[in-house]
Amino acid sequence: MPSFQLADRIKALPPYLFAQIDKVKEEVRSRGVDIISLGIGDPDMPTPDFIIDALAQSARNPANHQYPSYIGMLAFRQAVADWYKTRFGVELDPKSEVITLIGSKEGIAHFPLAFTNPGDLAIVCTPNYPVYTVTTEFLGGVVKYLPLTDDNDYLPDLDSVTSDEWRRAKMIYVNYPNNPTAATAPDAFYEKLIAIAKEFDVIVVHDAAYTEIYFDPANKPRSILEFPGGKDVAIEFHSLSKTYNMTGWRIGMAVGNPTLVAGLGKVKENMDSGAFQAVQEASIAALQQGEPYAEQFRAIYKERRDVVVKALREAGVQCRNPEASFYIWSKTPAGFASSAEFVTKIIQETGVVLTPGNGFGAPGEGYFRISLTVDSERLKEAVARISSKL
Ligand SMILES: Cc1ncc(COP(=O)(O)O)c(C=O)c1O
Repeated sequence: MPSFQLADRIKALPPYLFAQIDKVKEEVRSRGVDIISLGIGDPDMPTPDFIIDALAQSARNPANHQYPSYIGMLAFRQAVADWYKTRFGVELDPKSEVITLIGSKEGIAHFPLAFTNPGDLAIVCTPNYPVYTVTTEFLGGVVKYLPLTDDNDYLPDLDSVTSDEWRRAKMIYVNYPNNPTAATAPDAFYEKLIAIAKEFDVIVVHDAAYTEIYFDPANKPRSILEFPGGKDVAIEFHSLSKTYNMTGWRIGMAVGNPTLVAGLGKVKENMDSGAFQAVQEASIAALQQGEPYAEQFRAIYKERRDVVVKALREAGVQCRNPEASFYIWSKTPAGFASSAEFVTKIIQETGVVLTPGNGFGAPGEGYFRISLTVDSERLKEAVARISSKL
């Protein structure tokens, strides 16, 4: 038998966080325990019917059965540009400043291939969505982490990076509303980041996947492209996944600086063949008519947030009351040596699946994340089960 060796870069990967949790979950489920899964950030509500109807109609068009364009249909990119104009007041040229993605994860993962050489530095705010670091590390790049903590209100200390490091840095990854901490960023943060990025020619990668899950309409999360100079330095990744409950559809977009968008396009041209056109056409409908539905989803998440924050606090668990996203970032209760120990005990003894904070990076130790992706009654039940073990 031949013996096939994985490449060193794959051997060096830590196990994907959710795969590990799934293993424990399956073991518990096999014992007949009723699982309440608050682990992964995957909306439980279905995609609105009008989007499904649009897909069904588009799927019947033979023109959509052929290879799509790798950068996406112009009609979809135009719909993205129109949506950015309406939502953020940002002008985008659909031809050069918008690209279709097969979900934003795909674009985030591919992006460094366009701009990173071995030895280049990427600055990553952490705890973080794990995909930010993977490709840089595959490419022999170096990652510098900037911790997000309660003390800095989950905003990276940009002054802690030396001028020399800024000069070496190729890109910095920021994500607001943030996964996993649910933090949001004030205007002054973006303004400062853009100024530094301009001074040192650093690419800002802004992951904006959660901008539409907010709870105060007077304080909506912002696109980095709204700020003067944003388009000079930034590429912003966005997605229909969380806004319209479309995680399974695999559709997203990258927008912003045309050189950065074109670089990503070059990679995609060589690595994939674009998103199914019927999905793009259904997504045009979502972007054009989805706002009333997004509003309903926000109301549901708000109610769930209120239920969980109240119940956790009554149980003596400290947590943030987030203004956006569908996550609750909570302190691991006293008496547990680590977040992983706490989370493992809770899964094994109650069937409630949580995510240990350090799974998103070392500064997440001492915290756990709850996803508000089950209904309020189940959330109450979940927190009651957790409290019974404290
Ligand atoms: C912060 C963040 N960015 C991006 C994504 C990827 O979303 P998608 O690939 O479905 O667009 C996720 C998914 O969980 C996420 O949490």
